Amino acid sequence: TQSQDLKGKKILLTAGPTYEPIDPVRFIGNRSSGKMGIALADAAARRGAEVTLVLGPSKLSPQEKNVRVINVETAREMHEAALLHYPQFDAAILAAAVADYRPKTVATEKIKKKGEELQLDLVKNPDIAADLGQMKKPGQFLIGFALETNDEEQHAQGKLERKNFDFIVLNSLRDSGAGFNHDTNKISILFRDNKKRDFELKSKHAVAEDILQAMIDLFKV
Ligand code: C5P
Repeated sequence: TQSQDLKGKKILLTAGPTYEPIDPVRFIGNRSSGKMGIALADAAARRGAEVTLVLGPSKLSPQEKNVRVINVETAREMHEAALLHYPQFDAAILAAAVADYRPKTVATEKIKKKGEELQLDLVKNPDIAADLGQMKKPGQFLIGFALETNDEEQHAQGKLERKNFDFIVLNSLRDSGAGFNHDTNKISILFRDNKKRDFELKSKHAVAEDILQAMIDLFKV
């Protein structure tokens, strides 16, 4: 029997990749599977939370029936859904791999093969995390992820502060078995007071429980 220690809490999640259309048949995407965020949604629902999951294009979906899923495709759709819902939620956990840039224009017809080179102009997408960080009210929590390839902790600590997260979950790509498309993950959690907790390599389900426990510990203070 699972303890219902998130009963009465409303948790918003983002997960999965985003697809940024180029033309009617092509897009710019990334290799995020959505596994970590979906595991978090299921775990939070099992612990009694009211969960809304804003999910980019993923082959996977939550197991728990009482997770409300809002399917989106692009970063701008994810941004709109997250900003609309966050004010009504106790916490948001941002596990989505959001495209930083999108094609400046979307061709209405399939782009034809022509010369040896083709240029695509890209423009910046909104930063969902930074915008939610600005909206955050006292008593609300905001948790982010970072996936870095170099100077991991320094970059993650910068993001934690810039985006106004309460803590940031750092995935290390150096550990085999961690990151995109794996069933396991190895994380560290960095907090605002510069404290850090390192966790062992575990299943994404077990990692989800660790992240929720860290959040519950914050709800109490
Ligand atoms: O800056 P970076 O993309 O590395 O930050 C990662 C964190 O910010 C993740 O929690 C991710 O979900 C979130 N993010 C976002 N919107 C973006 C880019 C990142 O919510 N446009």
